Amino acid sequence: MSVVTAETFTAAADGDVAALKACCAAVYGQEWLSLLVGDSLHPGGLALTRHLGKRLRLGPADRVLDIACGTGTTSVLLAQEFGCHVTGVDYGATQIERATAAAESADVADRTAFEVGDAESLPFDDGSFTAVVCECAFCTFPSKAQAAAEMYRVLIPGGRVGITDLTVSGPLPEALQGVAAWVACVADARPVQDYVAILTAAGFARIATEKHNDAIAKLIADIQTKLMGVSILAGVGKIDLGDIDLAAGRTMARVARQATRDGLLGYCLLTAPRPAS
Ligand SMILES: C[S@@+](CC[C@H](N)C(=O)[O-])C[C@H]1O[C@@H](n2cnc3c(N)ncnc32)[C@H](O)[C@@H]1O
Repeated sequence: MSVVTAETFTAAADGDVAALKACCAAVYGQEWLSLLVGDSLHPGGLALTRHLGKRLRLGPADRVLDIACGTGTTSVLLAQEFGCHVTGVDYGATQIERATAAAESADVADRTAFEVGDAESLPFDDGSFTAVVCECAFCTFPSKAQAAAEMYRVLIPGGRVGITDLTVSGPLPEALQGVAAWVACVADARPVQDYVAILTAAGFARIATEKHNDAIAKLIADIQTKLMGVSILAGVGKIDLGDIDLAAGRTMARVARQATRDGLLGYCLLTAPRPAS
């Protein structure tokens, strides 16, 4: 498992894009993270993933790419409930190992495949998929334009993209800036109209958006409660937090909760077709 080191954080803070991606992958590869956010590493959990699958009208004929699949929760649900074939890709090797194991446990190994890869340079041929999903990760990609172009490239004409992600509606307080907040999907989150503009520039059309702000508010409230337990487990040596600063995490959660109350932070769902040419 990758360890989250102060050196990686420093390199990321200095603008090293590879270090930023490595930081993000390392944090979400930590076992203790599921204590904080559960197995579904995004606001809205399985219910929102199910809703996304319905919005995309997924079915057994679909070949779906789950970009930044994490530990595979989204991929497994889509394969189980919609009968489609899902390929998950993530920057973190630990996530890919866990996703593969999760698919085996859920008995969907024959309808899933997982591999390490970068959302900004996907290891797949043009037109390989009929649908692309990306939950709570687009906001962390340093080049969102490049990631959107890759989504477009790997879809067949007429294929669909579905994204769920954090939104911001104004300047963020200092506690929600910097590398830790970036990794926590906050610092580089954008207003929903920016996501629409990025997808439009990549070639997508008829982009539909939905607000799911309650999902982020609930997740942050849950995290605040669970941070106490993580702190106790770290204190008695049951889990290794590496160089992660838990006090800073508590501050970030408190400020983020206020930001959701103020309407500054939200969560959205976007779907769009790649126009049939
Ligand atoms: C918040 S988690 C979301 C995981 C999953 N989509 C879910 O909802 O359960 C973000 C994930 O994005 C992955 N990630 C970050 N940058 C990436 C990149 N450039 N390419 C692929 N995966 C990336 C991280 O490794 C992490 O597993």
